[in-house]
Amino acid sequence: MARKIWVFDTTLRDGEQVPGAKLNLYEKVEVAQQLKKLQVDIIEAGFPASSTGDFQAVKAIAEKVGNTDSLMITALARAVKSDIDAVYQSVKYAVNPLIHIVLGTSDIHVEKKFGKSKDQILDIGVEAVKYAKTLLPDVQYSTEDASRSDFEYLWSTIEAVVKAGATIINVPDTVGYAIPEEFGELIFKINDRLKNVNDEVLLSVHCHNDLGMATANTLAAIKNGADKVECTINGIGERAGNAALEEVVMALHTRSTAYGAYTNVNKKEIMNTSRLVSSFMGLDVQVNKAITGGNAFAHSSGIHQDGLLKSRDAYEIISPVEIGLEDMELVLTARSGRHAVKNALGKLGFQSLTDQQFEGIFAAFLALADAKKEVYDHDLYVLVENYYREHEKNQDMRYSDQFYELVDLQVISNTAFPSASIHLKKGDQTIKGSSVGDGPIDALYSAITDVCDLDVKLMEYHISSVSRGKEALGKVKIQVECKGNTYTAKATDTDIMKASALAFINAINSIIVENLILVD
Ligand code: KIV
Ligand code: ZN
Repeated sequence: MARKIWVFDTTLRDGEQVPGAKLNLYEKVEVAQQLKKLQVDIIEAGFPASSTGDFQAVKAIAEKVGNTDSLMITALARAVKSDIDAVYQSVKYAVNPLIHIVLGTSDIHVEKKFGKSKDQILDIGVEAVKYAKTLLPDVQYSTEDASRSDFEYLWSTIEAVVKAGATIINVPDTVGYAIPEEFGELIFKINDRLKNVNDEVLLSVHCHNDLGMATANTLAAIKNGADKVECTINGIGERAGNAALEEVVMALHTRSTAYGAYTNVNKKEIMNTSRLVSSFMGLDVQVNKAITGGNAFAHSSGIHQDGLLKSRDAYEIISPVEIGLEDMELVLTARSGRHAVKNALGKLGFQSLTDQQFEGIFAAFLALADAKKEVYDHDLYVLVENYYREHEKNQDMRYSDQFYELVDLQVISNTAFPSASIHLKKGDQTIKGSSVGDGPIDALYSAITDVCDLDVKLMEYHISSVSRGKEALGKVKIQVECKGNTYTAKATDTDIMKASALAFINAINSIIVENLILVD
């Protein structure tokens, strides 16, 4: 009989650790709502001890998304009381909360990172689990860097924390060092002993992709007894990322007889979730990425096209419809009314927008439709994202007169003297400036830097188009440096010069926010 595999999504924790992918509270709740529609079993919503913002986001997700028995909400804690308290205080609002504790087991972690003995680390782990169990019945323990740990010490840790009450044991390949045969064998050995100690404890794996084997290692673990897998959407996460949820789920589904296992994931929501995460986090999906890449279902060679026309299964192992791709996308225009726009947003997963939120997004839709005539699904994600970003700014009204806003700009591109003039607003003040530069972007950024009077250096500039056609939205993502700190910002507009200016102003406003918080 096929076994059920639990799917634990860590897009909002491990995935959010990707530089520049930070989301605000509204965006995190929106992603969590979409993960709920995808029917994952557990959402790891963040690392609440890391910042007040993260704590508030985990709490909001527990309250708004975790209001059902069929979904667990968790968050990460190191094996210290204050971290465990922060997790408890934020996840306790969910119907089904879980505390997740992590502590290393490899010699590298025990000796070099903590400078302690193995016995000391084991005791710290056991005490952490005992404390967590006084707060909640469900506790997951992660033996960080398990794949590079001495097996007998790893097992002693697992046995001790299970006896202390851990209900899920997670075995991470933290640095993506494992290979499928070896990792499968490790999971087989652990599972064999674990089920003799307590057969109700779930055995989980968490694989990183440093050698491109995260999905293969995860599947090898399932074959060897793992009950639960930790994944992220589009495989995002630390360094080369984590096992991609869509790859693991579709491999189990497509090769069900090979694995004898299934998940509860609603496969039709895979594409919507992938696009939402990619758009909100500003992380493009590699075009040839399995399942969710732009070319994953595109057939270009004549021989393949001919074969497909004769019989789809000649070159297709998954129908795009299975993962929620439609054969046809409905294109909206300025004449599409509220009903059509609401319907299109609903199909993308934005079903619970309040009237006020919808009206704000609809106004932006009309402006965009006027500018670019045809509005695609990709554009709608950007409209919702822009609305949330704007909303977050308004939250901080007491600081609003400290932020810069773009009023107007003029950029002249030529080979001799590229130049830019800029008109900004800060509270009631109107500020104007101009500059020349090595190119139009250099001139534009010099003009903004001069009027803002901040020592900001542009480190990276990246521009891409959000959808197709000559009127596509241009997305600009930049990284700047100020006083040794780096800040990432992005902005989107049909005018790429305006998007470039807005991204730079967003970065400057982030620097201002940080300094305001520091002096508060
Ligand atoms: O990679 C890792 O070891 C982790 C743990 C917190 C599970 O992310
Ligand atoms: Zn990880």
